[in-house]
Amino acid sequence: MCGIVAYTGKKDNIKEILIEGLKKLEYRGYDSAGIAVCTDTQIKVSKKKGFIKDLEKELSQENFRSTTGIGHTRWATHGEPSDINSHPHTDCTEKFAVVHNGIIENYKELREELESRGHVFKSKTDTEVIVHLIEENFDGDLLNAVLKSVKKLKGSFAIAVVSAYEPETVVGARQDSPLIAGLGEGENFLASDIPAVLKHTRKILVLEDGEAIKITPGSAEVYDFDGRLRHKEVLQVTWDAEAAEKSGYEDFMLKEIFEQPDTIRNTLRGRIKQDGFIDLSSEIKIGKNILKKLERIIIVACGTSYYAGLVGKNAIELFAQIPVEVEISSEFRYRPILAEGNVLVIAITQSGETADTLVSMRMAKKVGFPVLAIPNVVGSTAAREADGVLYTHAGPEIGVAATKTMTAQMVALYLFALYLAQLRNRIGSEREKKFIDELKRLPELVEMILSRKEHIKALAEKYAGFDNFLFLGRTHGLPAAYEGALKLKEITYIHAEGYPAGEMKHGPIALIDENFPSVFIATAGEVYEKIISNIEEIKARKGKVIAVATDGDTRIKELVDDVIYVPWTFEVYTPLVTVVPLQLFTYYIGKIRNLNVDQPRNLAKSVTVE
Ligand code: M6R
Repeated sequence: MCGIVAYTGKKDNIKEILIEGLKKLEYRGYDSAGIAVCTDTQIKVSKKKGFIKDLEKELSQENFRSTTGIGHTRWATHGEPSDINSHPHTDCTEKFAVVHNGIIENYKELREELESRGHVFKSKTDTEVIVHLIEENFDGDLLNAVLKSVKKLKGSFAIAVVSAYEPETVVGARQDSPLIAGLGEGENFLASDIPAVLKHTRKILVLEDGEAIKITPGSAEVYDFDGRLRHKEVLQVTWDAEAAEKSGYEDFMLKEIFEQPDTIRNTLRGRIKQDGFIDLSSEIKIGKNILKKLERIIIVACGTSYYAGLVGKNAIELFAQIPVEVEISSEFRYRPILAEGNVLVIAITQSGETADTLVSMRMAKKVGFPVLAIPNVVGSTAAREADGVLYTHAGPEIGVAATKTMTAQMVALYLFALYLAQLRNRIGSEREKKFIDELKRLPELVEMILSRKEHIKALAEKYAGFDNFLFLGRTHGLPAAYEGALKLKEITYIHAEGYPAGEMKHGPIALIDENFPSVFIATAGEVYEKIISNIEEIKARKGKVIAVATDGDTRIKELVDDVIYVPWTFEVYTPLVTVVPLQLFTYYIGKIRNLNVDQPRNLAKSVTVE
């Protein structure tokens, strides 16, 4: 985790540029923040435990005379959050400063070696070894010193380094942590993610593992770690800075929930052709012959993306009739892969940087399985390493909780499932058309649900005081139940569990009393009657029940305490229409409990460490 940013140019408001950039990266970590700027002869560092706004407040009277600097927002891995462990870190001479995202696995050995040669460490972080190595390797050229130093590092890093000896230069390097450069007119930037530089430029260079970059106000040169110059394609980003702002909403989470009709349209855009059928061949790049012969699919993902994977399983098995296993990446990576048969691995990851998912992808590639990534972030590691990519095109998601990216993932999976079914002749064109037409209606259905926000807010007020919740569903309703529980946990800190409703009798029903409400996914479908029986069982034990049910279902109203109605859709698409009201329910409870819904405690947006 952690976010880094760097600037070199002609503007004299370096403090504002760095802090503004860091605020766009705060989703990557927010337990401390700091900046370092180059003046003519020295490096000036300001850093502090706490939010970026705390640092900003502390620096309110500072007027740095500098046009080059680096910044960092931290999510601690080595060394507790404290002023001293905050980045940037400096060397013994205070002539070099570094910010770092990642983990240096061999930092203990390196630290011992450096200390034995007389270096004095100030912090408990793994990062500090980097800056002492640079100090040792410096022979008059910052780039060379960084290149020599990174070769000693094991682990993951994206770094930005400044030196008082070259006050208009920033050197960056990446290995297994994201780093981009923003190219401006007479100014250049480095950052962990594109939103940090979007206000200034849309011209982006995405660095690969094993690459370093030297930026000055007038140049940006990329090298491999052996110092060979590399030519890089400049990426033109189409989304603008406005897309990464709150646009009048109180919180990013609310904005992102309300963006869903548009993001779903964006995921669908260009993928349903004039003849009304889906064609993904130009994006997916994995040969049609391979897709036609598939015997098995393995989906790897974490958190919300894993639940989207469960939705994908149901859709692929229904439409394309291929068995699908859905694996949590952090488990998958430590089990042997059964490298048999024609298998496709699908990696679902909005950030495209989740460490466990990346390792799972690499394992799959090693045994020869083709890998399809479903990321949101363009140019992310997952996108670059996969054999084929199906972007979700949901735009930047700043709130730590996944909302719009999950519904976009579901839509990408629905598209893929139908495309696969068509390639393999497992769906007649009439039936396929019906499902594609309904897919196109999903943005409207989500708009209808969002227009009912006041009712959901009222329910949030009624239930915000409870300390425990169960979210229950069966078949297509189960992934939505899991996701409802995860959202409530991470945003409101209320204990919640997602559970298969049919399993309640096997133990968890013992928990139920009048203080333990259950939220049932009870939309129309094959298991509706079974769900009604499960609701009866809870009611018989005095449990309170909120049902998420289909418009027009008056019967359920008689049975439960409260109903959240959603419009009818095919059962396979119900996870999408049922998670949206659960996102809102969570959001409002979070607000009622006065919590920071965009940055819940202990979490970071992108989990780039194991
Ligand atoms: O970037 P990814 O989709 O790979 O992230 C996966 C999870 O870390 C993520 O979904 C996480 O569970 C969120 N906190 C969910 O809101």
